[in-house]
Amino acid sequence: MKKFLALILALVMALSLVACGSESSGGSTAESAGGEGGGQKIGISMPTQSLERWNRDGSYLDEQFKSAGYETILTYSDNDTNRQVSDIQNMIADGVDLLVVAAIDGEALNTVMNEAGEAGIPVIAYDRLIMNDNVSYYVSFDNYTVGTLQGQYVVDTLDLDNAAGPFNIEFTAGDPADNNAGYFFQGAVDVLQPYIDSGKLNVVSGQTDFDTVATAAWDSQTAMERAQNVLASYYADGTQVDVWLCSNDSTALGVAQAIESDYAGFNQPIITGQDGDEANLKNLVDGKQSMTVYKAVANEAVVTLDLAIAILEGTTVDEAFIEAAGWGFDCAYDTESYATSEGHNCPSLLLVPDVVTTDNMVEKLVDTGYYTQDADGYLHPAN
Ligand code: BGC
Repeated sequence: MKKFLALILALVMALSLVACGSESSGGSTAESAGGEGGGQKIGISMPTQSLERWNRDGSYLDEQFKSAGYETILTYSDNDTNRQVSDIQNMIADGVDLLVVAAIDGEALNTVMNEAGEAGIPVIAYDRLIMNDNVSYYVSFDNYTVGTLQGQYVVDTLDLDNAAGPFNIEFTAGDPADNNAGYFFQGAVDVLQPYIDSGKLNVVSGQTDFDTVATAAWDSQTAMERAQNVLASYYADGTQVDVWLCSNDSTALGVAQAIESDYAGFNQPIITGQDGDEANLKNLVDGKQSMTVYKAVANEAVVTLDLAIAILEGTTVDEAFIEAAGWGFDCAYDTESYATSEGHNCPSLLLVPDVVTTDNMVEKLVDTGYYTQDADGYLHPAN
């Protein structure tokens, strides 16, 4: 039932996204429509509208909470940390009963999180962990697994256990300010490191350090420019790049662009990604990207809503709560993996990411109702 609801919401949201304007702070305050919320107010702080997925998250969350009878304040902070701080401060001043925050910078919200704590407002860190002990719960996908899925895809596709190799590989990671980025990268590296150590994978640039391969703000242009530099410095003589391990779709987009414009070789490298952004699904169909790790953010919003209700009603949140929720999709209750400070673990509800390629794209994304498919094979968010 919840899954069905999420699908219906996905359709409604896709429609409302079309009407969605430019980056706006201050957002919308919706009147309570009755139901569980009873007029309580939820502050939803999203990082930016410039990266596709956060538009979906913001819309899903806003709609879920409204449908359940809550008032909402939804803001996008244009990837500007100061703006996110003041957006959240305004929500606190507005008397929100609970905050849902996807942080731009997990280390930079200390003051405002302390203010939320002093005001007795529970905080759900949404998708990205915030390094402050006032965070009550963390809802996300299993970030480390996202990386291992990308790494394992490379192992399987190149048949690294049997093929002679060596194969050339480069890495592009995410935003160091985003706590998730290190998990994605480490997951991939942990799978691939044995093959690097044995010489079957060769990082021609030698750039394997997270900070060196990171991409500020997950920006496509930034990822493209670094890839162009790497290609110019190490591959201009026609050296073949076999794999470009990208942590997500926005960075994969930049790398695919660099391959198209600046690569002297003739093969199409394996390029990984994450999110199932529309442009990247097009690249999958066009053979410019090999896979994406899909995360059903509609389900992430369902978990967040039910968790918020539990917090506001004082219901115990544990494994039994998750079992009783009957979500129809997997979600783990994890009290070990994430800490907001040394020794202070944050109870986490972690959903399961999934590999999408052209082979299973229709089954995973179209048959489930998340996307529609054109006659030319391209996918678009369902509407
Ligand atoms: C999210 C990814 C997303 C990235 C950039 C991460 O925190 O988990 O899904 O690709 O931010 O928006």
